[in-house]
Amino acid sequence: MPITVPVLREGVDPAWLPPDAFRPLGARRTLVHGSGPLVDTVHGEVTYASGRFGGEVVRDASGTPYDLVLRVADAAGNPAEADDLGDLSNLGDVGVLGDLGDEGFVFERSDGTTRVTASGQRGLLYGLFHVVRLGEDAFHGTRNREVHRPATALRMLDHWDNVAVHPVMGQVERGYAGGSLFWQDGQARGELERVQAYGRLLAACGINAVSVNNVNVHEAEAHLLTDRIDEVARIAGALRPYGIRTHLSVTFAAPIVLGGLSTADPLDESVRGWWAEAVHGVYSAIPDFGGFVVKADSEGQPGPFTYGRSHADGANMLACVLAPHDGTVHWRAFVYDHRQDWRDRSTDRARAAYDHFAPLDGEFAANAVLQVKHGPMDFQVREPVSPVLGALPRTRVALEVQATQEYTGQQRHVCWLGPMWSEVLRFRPDGEQGPVIGELASGGLVAVSNVGDDPFWTGHPLAQANLYTFGRLAWQPDADARRILDEWIALTFPSAPERLVEGLRTVLHGSWRTYEKYTAPLGVGFMVQPGHHYGPSVDGYEYSPWGTYHFADRDGVGVDRSAATGTGYAAQYAKAWAELYESPDSCPDELLLFFHHVPYGHVLRSGETVVQHIYDTHFEGVEEAEEARRVWAGLADLVEPAWYARVAERYEEQVRSALEWRDQVNSYFLRKSGIPDGQGRTIY
Ligand code: GCU
Repeated sequence: MPITVPVLREGVDPAWLPPDAFRPLGARRTLVHGSGPLVDTVHGEVTYASGRFGGEVVRDASGTPYDLVLRVADAAGNPAEADDLGDLSNLGDVGVLGDLGDEGFVFERSDGTTRVTASGQRGLLYGLFHVVRLGEDAFHGTRNREVHRPATALRMLDHWDNVAVHPVMGQVERGYAGGSLFWQDGQARGELERVQAYGRLLAACGINAVSVNNVNVHEAEAHLLTDRIDEVARIAGALRPYGIRTHLSVTFAAPIVLGGLSTADPLDESVRGWWAEAVHGVYSAIPDFGGFVVKADSEGQPGPFTYGRSHADGANMLACVLAPHDGTVHWRAFVYDHRQDWRDRSTDRARAAYDHFAPLDGEFAANAVLQVKHGPMDFQVREPVSPVLGALPRTRVALEVQATQEYTGQQRHVCWLGPMWSEVLRFRPDGEQGPVIGELASGGLVAVSNVGDDPFWTGHPLAQANLYTFGRLAWQPDADARRILDEWIALTFPSAPERLVEGLRTVLHGSWRTYEKYTAPLGVGFMVQPGHHYGPSVDGYEYSPWGTYHFADRDGVGVDRSAATGTGYAAQYAKAWAELYESPDSCPDELLLFFHHVPYGHVLRSGETVVQHIYDTHFEGVEEAEEARRVWAGLADLVEPAWYARVAERYEEQVRSALEWRDQVNSYFLRKSGIPDGQGRTIY
């Protein structure tokens, strides 16, 4: 039976799956062949499209030619259930499909028929969305066989959603798109059609896993693991038709908090027994459950350090109880001292993850994945790539990025992060040779979700592009981010005139760099308002316990992280990078203040002094934001009114905020340094 494609409530934006995106597919005669729940999903999608656009869908090959064949075949290339098929001659030969795995597919077109052949049901689903992405192009000419398969098996979104509204963090921690899609009034939503629609959007960009609750596990969320697992099971049920496995964040102290034990020591037999039983309960409720996400010994969350155990001990205990069920533990490497004394210059938060985890390489179980933030600090607009990502060759590592724009404008500013993520994925930890991060992240790619129950999903409609780009990069980390953006534009705005396409490119392509220009300079980071992290406060974190300092004084600014005179962080990289970062002369400009404390008159590789660079980029950043607002205004006649208005309203705030950033940052450095702007512009 085909599934019924989820229907969105009136006023909810279809994002990158508007009905019109299905027109080319829907107007055709299609054979869907194979069996299983995800084949039923594919069948449902094609039925929905043909019902709308006049095509036809059949399940059994009848010998008549098809415009499109979507089929699951066995590893030898034979269509599944070959015996049930009539005349196979028009299905073509697909050869051996053994290496496609469960998620890959073959795409080809000849003799007027487009064919997607997968060896697993998931592959068929991704193949279907490939056809949707190609649109009319999927049905013309001849296409040689293309093999598509994801680079990594786990492409995941972590939701930092609280079950109960948190007094400080609200419903979604660092959420800028309304409430949670999953939780409302302290429990799982009763109506989950939107969750299913969310799964559909995710599948269409290649995401296959979702963790449904905050990594900071409060009391209510802790219970999801045991007595409230049924609520998680209902959410998992809504995501499953689109190939999404559900994961859960758990507290390391669960045996104490939920089990009444006196300890959560990972080496204690009663603790292990308690977890084994809890995991058994989880899999009874959710047989395809993905596994746990754990934030331990981090920002107040409990962990193995309490018992004098290592993080490998902690992760492996959970890995061991998950293993019989094919589950994975995602253990976060975000471990540092958040109660640091700002007077103490020897402690460097940037060093912490490497210092904790690099010595543990080789000790983690096969189903334990170390989940590492892309930079050593905390999702700043500019950070070097975390040295941890290249330092554990015998450990499965996942890369974690932040789609929710905590430090990049909180979905009130346009900041398309595709180029930033691409830079990280293309980084070669060994220098000239060796694999890039996109290849090293064998444990998967994870993004902190930017989605909520907002009608536009992401608060700022243009932030949808971040979610889509993440999914597609997770599927193919070396893909060109700009091509992905073009895909997003084509899907979101089917048959958009060239002026709209160009306008969208203009406002999105450079938006990350624009944001970087008017906020914290040269990789120094933070300078945000404490707590909520929106808007400028140059000294906001300067005297705090969080380890996030810039050390500006009357002579200069930046953190000396060199090995020779600083914290030694630069030496955590392989030789090529360590040498590059070690000296202010070779350090890339955009990271200079991350690695070095330099005088304001220090001349950058660009030829400009540090302080003049700060002034110039801040003026430029505001001009670019104003220009983007102007470009957007010129698209008013081409975009649906509510969509247009939401973006236009956010541009007003972006420009206001950018001005505030410019003036606070520039005034701060003028006052500290006493060096006037070389161009005589007004600085307060
Ligand atoms: C940041 C963020 C927190 C979050 C933490 C994490 O510090 O501000 O809200 O809990 O990252 O990644 O765990």
